[in-house]
Amino acid sequence: MVRVCFVCLGNICRSPTAEGVMQALVEDAGLTEHIELDSAGTGAYHVGEPPDRRSTAAARQRGIQLRGRARQFEVSDFEDFDYIVAMDAANYRDLRTLCRSDRDAEKLSLLRDFDPESPRGSGVPDPYYGGARGFDDVLDICEAGCRHLLERLRRTHGW
Ligand code: 4NP
Repeated sequence: MVRVCFVCLGNICRSPTAEGVMQALVEDAGLTEHIELDSAGTGAYHVGEPPDRRSTAAARQRGIQLRGRARQFEVSDFEDFDYIVAMDAANYRDLRTLCRSDRDAEKLSLLRDFDPESPRGSGVPDPYYGGARGFDDVLDICEAGCRHLLERLRRTHGW
């Protein structure tokens, strides 16, 4: 079993969206027995809350269900997950400061870096304070990133 955790700031918009998008791709590919997903936030502002209703509505339009309640990323997540996928450079930096070893750091990546068409280091823009369009953009970006992430996992693990 390969475990992947998506991480943003609040764990109510971008990372639950990436998790929901990836879950749909994993199900379509028949890989649910190989891949387990979760998400978390670097911040604690929204712990216990369900995904933002605007994210949930935008995802539902595409037949994607967002699940779970917000939780804060914990250092022990470095043991529980094989891939820790940050949504933007600030999330990546925050996670980097929590790493205790090179082994922890090797698990870190940025979602968009899996997409060869995306400039290296680019992030998923935070939609929280913007309009509805931002939530649709997050879905587009997550779909592209997660497709490439899934390809990478298939190649790496030989599925
Ligand atoms: P997320 O979006 O990191 O994609 O879940 C945010 C949600 C809430 C806040 C910031 C970003 N906030 O500052 O409350």
